[in-house]
Amino acid sequence: DRLPALLAAMPKAELHMHIEGSLEPEMIFALAARNGVALPYASVDELRRAYAFSDLQSFLDIYYQGASVLLKEEDFYDMAQAYLSRVAAENIVHAEIFFDPQTHTARGVSMETVIRGLSRACADARARHGISAALILCFLRHLSEEEAFETLEAALPFREHFIGVGLDSSEVGHPPSKFARVFARCRELGLHIVAHAGEEGPPDYIWQALDLLGAERIDHGVQAVHDAALMARLAAERVPLTVCPLSNQKLRVFPDLANHNLKSLLDAGLCATVNSDDPAYFGGYVNDNFRAVFAATGMTARHAWQLALNSFEASFAPAADQARWR
Ligand code: ADE
Ligand code: ZN
Repeated sequence: DRLPALLAAMPKAELHMHIEGSLEPEMIFALAARNGVALPYASVDELRRAYAFSDLQSFLDIYYQGASVLLKEEDFYDMAQAYLSRVAAENIVHAEIFFDPQTHTARGVSMETVIRGLSRACADARARHGISAALILCFLRHLSEEEAFETLEAALPFREHFIGVGLDSSEVGHPPSKFARVFARCRELGLHIVAHAGEEGPPDYIWQALDLLGAERIDHGVQAVHDAALMARLAAERVPLTVCPLSNQKLRVFPDLANHNLKSLLDAGLCATVNSDDPAYFGGYVNDNFRAVFAATGMTARHAWQLALNSFEASFAPAADQARWR
């Protein structure tokens, strides 16, 4: 079977990953030691054993705790540098990287520290690995729209370092409508717009992300299959869905990877892509996601080719870069 080798070798873009979710347990311990941060775990193994999730919230609690070791610009640089050099070796040629500034500013870390560290790693990765990387600032939806506005204000002095904004964290109970005003402001500023919707939440949240936020892509979006009219719209408009198979498995969005609906989404003509979400927490980087979902669902080389093409079509990369990859 030559499919796993093809999946690993094909050039592709990753469009849905949270950089804080690339913090490996070993790096959490190393940064905790470097910064004198106390952790409630005695060892790397004990921390790893805590990665037994039952839903999105059970993961987020541990994910925000892990991010507490990030204090200095160098920490943000090292984290992003580790991710980018790892995925360059997986034939990712373009990455659009989410970051959660509110997780850090709430602990007294400045916006400048966060963005300068991440941005410098992106620039160095281009020089070192030929990979293009861009940042997308995410608002935490469990916090208020007022706090999202404050976060946007704090980030605007660094406007040239990020290409867009997204919406993440606890989905159910925090509909896109809660953030309609701040996203309107972001659109005026010319920022790209994405939003997590339809991960655990209903199809209505996907409609809201499109119509109230102006989302150009939907992160996850797998609950769209429960709404035929929505599926028709997503297919007709080629609205990309950034799907994360291992994340969905670990957070029990599907009972098992064999039940994952990626193949149905592709066969319905949607622009679905494969991504890692939080690779250090969910058991793998992007090639692991491809390998696992193909093995579980019986997709073919034709699906692989479509997914790679979709990842470029769905990206916010300039046309010149896209021409280079196709
Ligand atoms: N933050 C990090 N990963 C996330 C996910 N899968 N859903 C929502 N917020 C997140
Ligand atoms: Zn995500």
